[in-house]
Amino acid sequence: MAVEIDIFTLFPDWFEWLAEQRHVRNALAAGTRIECVNFREHTPLGAGQVDDTPFGGGAGMVLRVDVLDSALRAHYGVDPVQLRSERRVIALAPGGRLLDDPLVDELAGEPALTLLCGRYEGFDERILQHLSSDVVSIGRYVLSGGELAAMVLCDAVLRKLPGALGHERSAAEESFSAALEGNPEYPHYTRPAEYRGWRVPDVLLSGHHEQIERWRRERSRERGAPAPGRDGG
Ligand code: 6GU
Repeated sequence: MAVEIDIFTLFPDWFEWLAEQRHVRNALAAGTRIECVNFREHTPLGAGQVDDTPFGGGAGMVLRVDVLDSALRAHYGVDPVQLRSERRVIALAPGGRLLDDPLVDELAGEPALTLLCGRYEGFDERILQHLSSDVVSIGRYVLSGGELAAMVLCDAVLRKLPGALGHERSAAEESFSAALEGNPEYPHYTRPAEYRGWRVPDVLLSGHHEQIERWRRERSRERGAPAPGRDGG
């Protein structure tokens, strides 16, 4: 279980908000540890420098490989090249492997995670090649830095841990889970049973648990295979 998460970032304050959220607090109370490392504090360069202009020219700044190497080495006391074979060291970058439910499950099963948050134009490629074990993206669009993506990853991973949600079934039966064959979740309804003429499906009011179960599986499957030209139903 991912009980130890280290986040290398230039904006550690951002993560204070994350740590205040209920399911994150639950996970922290249950023994999860989230630590932020401001890698600017470990830079071997003067004046807190962490980035530099790109070789070959072009816009923006690039995070330096020597800076991340020093920060990882200072924090863990081992060569980062060795570190990445001992624990998942995940660089967050828009071009990485897309974060989906199977990947979240995989990461939730790891004992420890290290998240590297980039800024500016991104990481020197050698950080991705030699210092990280994974490159992960939360979607095909560009954010100004990896911090929000790291928070998305933490949120998704931590709510998988036992006790985080309060209801053990919630995470097992939710959208994209194996229990739903990877499909989105079925529709939910609560009171009132009718509002402005919008009625809750009769089967859900019927008390027939088998029929309700079947209806939910069918709706979930439908949503997993939306009709052509519709955006997910
Ligand atoms: Cl992980 N980082 C950045 N900077 N942008 C992203 C992303 C990550 N995932 C989607 N867009």
